[in-house]
Amino acid sequence: MAQLILEQVTQQFGRHVAVADISLHIPDGEFWVLMGPSGCGKSTILRTVAGLLPVQQGRIFFGDRCVNHVPARERDVAMVFQNYALYPHMTVAENLAFGLKMRGVPPQERQRRVQWVAELLGLTNLLTRKPGQLSGGQQQRVALGRAMVRQPQVFLLDEPLSNLDSRLRDQTRTELKRLHQEFPTTTLYVTHDQTEAMTLADQLVVMHQGRIQQIGSPQHLYQQPANKTVALFLGHPPMNILPARLFPGVPPTVEVGVRPENIAITSPEKSDLRGRVVIVEPLGQVNLVQIEVAPDLLVWVKTRQNPLVREWVGLVIPKEAHYYFDIATGLCQMLMSI
Ligand SMILES: Nc1ncnc2c1ncn2[C@@H]1O[C@H](COP(=O)(O)OP(=O)(O)O)[C@@H](O)[C@H]1O
Ligand SMILES: [Mg+2]
Repeated sequence: MAQLILEQVTQQFGRHVAVADISLHIPDGEFWVLMGPSGCGKSTILRTVAGLLPVQQGRIFFGDRCVNHVPARERDVAMVFQNYALYPHMTVAENLAFGLKMRGVPPQERQRRVQWVAELLGLTNLLTRKPGQLSGGQQQRVALGRAMVRQPQVFLLDEPLSNLDSRLRDQTRTELKRLHQEFPTTTLYVTHDQTEAMTLADQLVVMHQGRIQQIGSPQHLYQQPANKTVALFLGHPPMNILPARLFPGVPPTVEVGVRPENIAITSPEKSDLRGRVVIVEPLGQVNLVQIEVAPDLLVWVKTRQNPLVREWVGLVIPKEAHYYFDIATGLCQMLMSI
């Protein structure tokens, strides 16, 4: 195992800059998640670390060793893709052992490691089956197992759960977290799914248009987003962004952000901010309520209260729940004297 370092990595396709000035320092054994919308450069970073794309600018280190010129085969990384391909004519056991065989690991050691990983992933009873006889979730576990069995220095996963149905995705996500706690391999995990990102990451790297927006623990990024992009990316429903004019005394050069769970509903005469309930979506424990506070201005509220559709309500937002975003730059200003 090893720490993984990226120093000012920039990658272009022709004239298109896919990722710019990416610097990461992932300590040995940590699980980091790269997150951002489709096309923001996540896979490009992973493929560059794996050695599938040559480094154009910057440097990559595994431990103390610069691997810029080390070919992919010799980098000792294991990568799991969204579209994993198992060998259809081989059994699960053979699929798991294949990479080890190619690397010249002796048969006894191969068998030992295959058994170990099969037990970990609940594949022991499936070892003699072929991929065609497995469910999607089982196949995905084999794909993960095939990477884990190598015991690589660095583990790279590119949206590995996105082909699974939601129940299986939840299960496998929990499983991954447990596995990493037991065997902390340095991991860089790519997803655009915020639940995966929030639940798995030691540190979360939010990307947008090829650039890092912010790095921090999921909680830190949720509570102290550096800018509007990060704020809008984490949280469901997303943070409400409201014009300053709704808040007396707030300078017009900023917008006000408020998370749906920080708004309370009251009777209309008890607040200066009022609106009509448009939609109520019950989630069981809470309701997602959409309220029209001005023409074409909808606010999401996450609440245990049960307002009625078309009801007039007041909204209460404690001052400490406000975020202020500079309209010109999108930067979050946490402390403003108003
Ligand atoms: N092989 C390629 N040739 C040209 N452009 C590419 C290639 N791979 C990726 N890109 C472009 O680089 C950008 C980042 O892509 P990618 O890293 O795949 O994003 P993500 O994984 O975040 O969806 C996108 O604009 C994409 O179109
Ligand atoms: Mg991708």
